[in-house]
Amino acid sequence: MSTRKTRSNEGSSAPTHVAIIMDGNGRWARARNLPRIEGHRAGFEAAREVVRTAGEIGVDFLTLYAFSVENWKRPIQEVNALMELLNSFVEETEADLVANEVRLKVIGRIADLPSALREKIDALILRTSQHRKLTLSLALSYSGRIEILTAVQRLACDVLNGRLRAEEIDETAFRHYLYTGEDPDPDLLIRTSGEMRLSNFLLWQISYSEIYFTDVLWPDFRREAFLRAVEEYGRRQRRFGRLEREEFE
Ligand code: FPP
Repeated sequence: MSTRKTRSNEGSSAPTHVAIIMDGNGRWARARNLPRIEGHRAGFEAAREVVRTAGEIGVDFLTLYAFSVENWKRPIQEVNALMELLNSFVEETEADLVANEVRLKVIGRIADLPSALREKIDALILRTSQHRKLTLSLALSYSGRIEILTAVQRLACDVLNGRLRAEEIDETAFRHYLYTGEDPDPDLLIRTSGEMRLSNFLLWQISYSEIYFTDVLWPDFRREAFLRAVEEYGRRQRRFGRLEREEFE
C-alpha cells in the first residue's frame, strides 16, 4: 500500500478542493413513485462514483455534506435509514478507499452518531490515515454555525489558559480551531437539485469558493455531471476581491 501521492492536480485545471451539497434524493424518489430511502440509496451510488472520479482527475480534497445537524429532525424512520446507509458506506467503500489511496475524515459532531457506527468510522479513519491521494471528508451531524461556535469556545479556553494571546487571533490562527483544520478552503462548491442555498455548510471556508448550482438531482449527478462542473470551474476567473491588471489600466 503506497502512501505516496501518485497524482496531483498541479498543471491541470482540477480544483484542489471540491465541496458538495448533495440534494434532491427525495424528489428523485418521488418522481419514480419510490420511497424516499430509495432516493438516498441511489444517492449513495452517486457519491461512490463522484469519489472515484474526483480521485481520477486529481482533486485532492472532496467534502460531502451527508447529514446536517438539522437532519436529526426528520422522521425517525428516515434518520435510521440514513444511518444504515452510512454504515453500508463505511463497510462497502472500505476496499475502494484502500485501493484508491483515499484518506477518510469526518467533520461535524461525530459524538451524535450511534456508537457502533462511530466505532466503524473511527476504525476506517485510522486505517486510511496514511493515504494521500484524496482526502474524503464526510460532513456528519454538521452545522457551519456550530463549527464556528465550537472553534470560538476552544480558542477562548486557549486564551484563558495563556496558550494564545488575543492579539494573535488572525485568520490563520482561527482556522486551526475549525473541524477542517489546515485543509485548504474549497475552490468549488456544488449544490445539486436547483436549490440555491448554502444550508449552513462550511460557512467560514467558502468565503471565496466558486459556486456551481445545477438542476440535476443528486442521484443523477454521476461522472459526466461532475466533470461538467469541474470544466465550468476551469472557465471561471477567480479574483479573490482583486482586479485584473488590465481592468485598471
Ligand atoms: C438531501 O436530499 C440528502 C440528504 C439529506 C442525505 C445525503 C445522503 C446521501 C447522498 C446518501 C449517503 C451518502 C454518503 C456519502 C454516505 P433530500 O432528502 O433533502 O432530498 P429532497 O430535497 O429532494 O427531499
